[in-house]
Amino acid sequence: MKVLIHETQATAVDCVAGLFADRLKQEPETVLGLATGGTMEAVYERLIARYKAGDMSMAKARSFNLDEYVGLRPDHPCSYWYYMRKKLFDHVDIKPENTFLPCGDAPDPEVEANRYEDAIAAAGDIGLQLLGLGANGHIGFNEPTSSLASHTRIKTLTRTTREANARYFDSFDDVPRLAITMGIGTIMRAEEIVLLAFGEAKADVVAKMIEGPVSAACPASILQMHRKVTVVIDEAAASKLALRDYYEEVHPEVRAPS
Ligand code: F6R
Repeated sequence: MKVLIHETQATAVDCVAGLFADRLKQEPETVLGLATGGTMEAVYERLIARYKAGDMSMAKARSFNLDEYVGLRPDHPCSYWYYMRKKLFDHVDIKPENTFLPCGDAPDPEVEANRYEDAIAAAGDIGLQLLGLGANGHIGFNEPTSSLASHTRIKTLTRTTREANARYFDSFDDVPRLAITMGIGTIMRAEEIVLLAFGEAKADVVAKMIEGPVSAACPASILQMHRKVTVVIDEAAASKLALRDYYEEVHPEVRAPS
């Protein structure tokens, strides 16, 4: 696990956007795994800026998002389809027919989850997966106690996750209880993973993910078993790491003035 500790949230976000753009330069046909949530909003803003500056193209890429709420139509303003169109897809050159999310309003969500898993496998699995981190250790919507080998399926959201996401809805009660999410096994098949977390509220879970035992109690801890993961965090999110000095020593370039 490569742990890059940035002085600020802004440089952490720039770093993730840079890794993403570099990968697309090296391999324009990359199959991208995308996330939603507050953390990713800043990343997508930077990617749009890079695209407008002629510094990044998604024209040949395909993308699969991690998750979608069960019961929300793609045009529902709180759906992740809607989020992705507004925050990224409408502003860059990715072809709409190459963007995929689970259909939240599919007549049979279980069938839809299996179809989505098969579609990812048929695309050759994810090349570069972007991840945020839930305060309870979830990745995608794989809540604590999720099978570490799981495939795309329906998960019941925890109350804390619904509370964290209630800001996007009119009220807490409007937040769906179920989501279709890529499984942990699906995510672990990605060739390369970049996880971004910032802020003090994520400090405890960042320490558990990087330095705690690998356990379904903190699903993100499974990333310790992946061959190519980069964790990009700011100082606030790094504040509970026991080996912080070591990570900073290994990657002095993160702090070197440009
Ligand atoms: C969303 C997703 C979630 C979020 C996580 C962090 O597609 O997969 O795992 O990345 O809940 O959310 P924020 O960034 O809002 O703290």
